[in-house]
Amino acid sequence: MKEKIESIQKELDNKLSNIKTLAELNDARVNYMGKKGEISALSQMISTLSNDEKKEFGMKVNELRTKVTTALDEKKKELDDAVLNEKLQSETIDVSLPGTKIPVGSPNILERLIEEVEGLLMSMGYDVVEGPELEEDLYNFELLNLPKGHPARDAQDTFYTKDDTLLLRSQTSPVQIRTMLANKEKTPIRIICPGKTYRRDDDDASHSHQFTQIEGLLVDKNISLADLKGTFTVIAKKLYGDKCETRFRPSYYPFTEPSVEMDILCFNCHGKGCNVCKNTGWITIGGAGMVHYNVLKNCGYDPEVYTGFAFGFGAERLAMLKYNINDIRTFYTNDLRVSEEFNRKGE
Ligand code: DAH
Repeated sequence: MKEKIESIQKELDNKLSNIKTLAELNDARVNYMGKKGEISALSQMISTLSNDEKKEFGMKVNELRTKVTTALDEKKKELDDAVLNEKLQSETIDVSLPGTKIPVGSPNILERLIEEVEGLLMSMGYDVVEGPELEEDLYNFELLNLPKGHPARDAQDTFYTKDDTLLLRSQTSPVQIRTMLANKEKTPIRIICPGKTYRRDDDDASHSHQFTQIEGLLVDKNISLADLKGTFTVIAKKLYGDKCETRFRPSYYPFTEPSVEMDILCFNCHGKGCNVCKNTGWITIGGAGMVHYNVLKNCGYDPEVYTGFAFGFGAERLAMLKYNINDIRTFYTNDLRVSEEFNRKGE
């Protein structure tokens, strides 16, 4: 019996150290502690011993039982910990790892410039309106004081559709007509209309058959050229900085009288003359004028009561000057690097 106890004691560590799973451990527990297990067998043997031996072996078997129970419990804890650790390991999230970068788009720079102008003019009470790109000759020319056969029509080499009544608008000015007709002497009218326009131009660094204009119109009582100059100057300073200087130059448009070209002082040579301003010291950024008597009349506004001004900018031209871009095609090539670069610069 003594040997049996000693051999169980001796092998205990070795046996337990070979156990790798909780199932194996359970088997071992049954083997040692179960009803038919080794320790029960020893306990049963005690009853066959003499009184002295009973005492001695009773104590030894109890010690053994405690030892085995402790060893089994420790092993159980060890296995439980291992399972937990493995779980923690496989399920850990390293919060310090960089996340997957989600690509973020950036607005086209032309769009960005248009929004800048819109924001400014909206703060001055203007509404942003739209008009159709497929336009009637009536609005694109006729009611703008450009009757059929008018020589100024030639300057806007127009895309006509199947006949001569429907065309791709060559300017955003027809939106002036549409707005005035829709409002019938309701004043003030303050609108801007940014939009696509089309002309039969061959594409090169400074021409595009499709381009963008920003049209503006203000009609009310007592509007003068000074109001136009003030508005133009606010826009120019917003786009090109507070130091930007402006001037008007006499010009001709059939739908305005008087008509002007809107110039800004050349930011490259400050008026001295260089190749950016073609040695004039000034850069033209749009056309404008007081709404023509006939146009007001055509749209149902009494020209003796109401006056107004109108202006038109080439949006690409504004953006090319602002961002120092020398090829108009840059806006249309869908090269994401362009908008990324300029948005970074403009931040
Ligand atoms: N529509 C003109 C063009 O395309 C630009 C323009 C000039 C618009 C004078 C205006 C204006 O509203 O008053 O060349």
